[in-house]
Formats: sequence, C-alpha cells, structure tokens
Amino acid sequence: MTMKFGPIDRLLGRRRSGHGAAPVAAFDDYEARAPRPQNGIDAIDGWNSAFPPEFGVIAGDRVNFWDDRIVWAAERFGDLGGRRVLELGPLEGAHTYMLDRCGAEVTAVEANKRAFLKCLVTKEIVGLPRAHFLLGDGVLFLEEDTRRWDLVVACGVLYHMIDPLRFLSAVAARTDVLYLWTSYFDLSSVEPGSAMEKGFAEMREDRPFHGETLTLYRRSYLGADRNPEFCGGIFDEPRWMTRESILAALRLLGFTSIEIAHEAMPNPNEPCFSIFARR
Ligand SMILES: C[S@@+](CC[C@H](N)C(=O)[O-])C[C@H]1O[C@@H](n2cnc3c(N)ncnc32)[C@H](O)[C@@H]1O
Repeated sequence: MTMKFGPIDRLLGRRRSGHGAAPVAAFDDYEARAPRPQNGIDAIDGWNSAFPPEFGVIAGDRVNFWDDRIVWAAERFGDLGGRRVLELGPLEGAHTYMLDRCGAEVTAVEANKRAFLKCLVTKEIVGLPRAHFLLGDGVLFLEEDTRRWDLVVACGVLYHMIDPLRFLSAVAARTDVLYLWTSYFDLSSVEPGSAMEKGFAEMREDRPFHGETLTLYRRSYLGADRNPEFCGGIFDEPRWMTRESILAALRLLGFTSIEIAHEAMPNPNEPCFSIFARR
C-alpha cells in the first residue's frame, strides 16, 4: 500500500525519505526544511526582538532594532566610527546591530546561554563582521580584562545585578563614558505606614560607598527565570538602587557630566531612565 503524503506531514516536519518512500519524522535536533534565515530563529525559543523587515524573519516583538535610547546615546557620544564599545547584556544583538551600523567595534558580553546563541544567530542574519559576542558574567569580564573602552553600553542591566555597586565600580574602572538605562526603586507613591511600605522596608539595605551611604532594595524574580523569554540576571535577588543612589554612585566614581532622558514609569514603584555619564 502507498502512504499518502500531505500537509499534515509537512506541518509535522515529515517528508519522504527519498526514492518516493513513506514519510518519516525528522530527528528533533535536525532541520528538515531547506536552509533559510528563519530556521535559525526557529531553532531557539523565546525571541524578544523584532528584526527589520529587510531581513525577512519573524522573531519577537518587544525589542526594537532601531531603539531611540541607543540613538540618543550615540548622539551624545558623537562619531562612533572605529570606536571600541563594550556592550553588556546584548540579549539578542539588536543594540549591537545599531552600534555596528554606527561604525563601532563592539564587544558584547552576554551571561544567558540561550541569549548568547541568539546573538550568534542574529550576527549571521544581519551581518556584524566587527562585533564579537562573549558568553559569561560581564562583571567578572570587567574585573579580569584590562582593556579600556571608549564607551560602555549597559542598557537594562544594572537592576539585574546582585551587587550593582560592584558592577558600577567595575565599569568605571574601564571607561570614561557610560550609557546606562535602568529601572530604579521608588517609594514616593507608597502610602507611609502601609503594609507595602513595611514590606519594602524589610528589603532595604544601606551600603557604605566611598564615604557615603547608598540605598539598595532586594528584589526577587519569583520564578520568572523559568520562562524562555526571561532576560534578567544570573542570580536571584538582584538589588535595585534608588535614583539618588545611582546618581550619587556615578558622582563618587568620578563621572562629572550626567545627562538624563527617557524618564518613564512603566510599572508602579518602578520608574526607569537613561543616563549618559562622562568623566
Ligand atoms: C533586560 S535585558 C536587556 C537587553 C538589552 N540590552 C536591551 O536593552 O534590550 C538584560 C540582559 O542582560 C543580560 N545579563 C544579565 N546579567 C548579566 C551579566 N552579569 N553579565 C552579562 N549579561 C548579563 C541578560 O541575560 C539580558 O540579556
């Protein structure tokens, strides 16, 4: 009897195994379709980035490949042509693409294994010949690798650190110019004396830093790391800094020029902003 080969077989990735034989299922770790850029996207779950239409792939829809925040940072910096940029937490390489197209030579350190592999897929799809992706902890990279950087880009990274002051100190030791976008902790809309305020008070940590005391709040991902789209930190219980503590830390680390933009409050008690800091 001849088996019929139809759309359901194609949907399940089955195809004739040559010479008109019966349809067979491909092994899970193999791609049975003809090679296409989309196959690389489909090989890894949980994409966040929307690729520009010219690349002809469908991935995520949350991160923009032409992000206003990076445009702003690049404008503040000036000509990025040939400048050495360290990007921390590239996620899927969308901002790496922007920095590359501005002419920068980017080294990007990503700690999430799945995100790192996505960056390599992105690199292959969009072409990033001058960019290099490294898998590992950006803090340890900054502490071990003695190169200096014309610009460090840390977009969406500070509030994922269990020790954000160690992170900022490590960045400050390797650059005079920093672009930071971060969420920060804000209690101003919490009712004084409320249960919520008492709960937050238990998470508060006051830390001595270069002769001053800075305030951090312990948070938890509450299991969000189990989601394939998770793009947080390496460890649970990151510490969120207050706005005043972030600005004070940068001042204490020697950044004398601070520009601020993109002030927003996407969630209650969790405002965010961009900082472009120079020595
Ligand atoms: C919220 S995402 C931001 C991604 C991207 N920069 C953006 O703004 O769209 C945080 C990224 O930093 C990465 N990350 C977190 N902790 C890191 C660390 N210690 N070293 C390097 N990357 C880290 C995460 O895996 C994730 O890719």
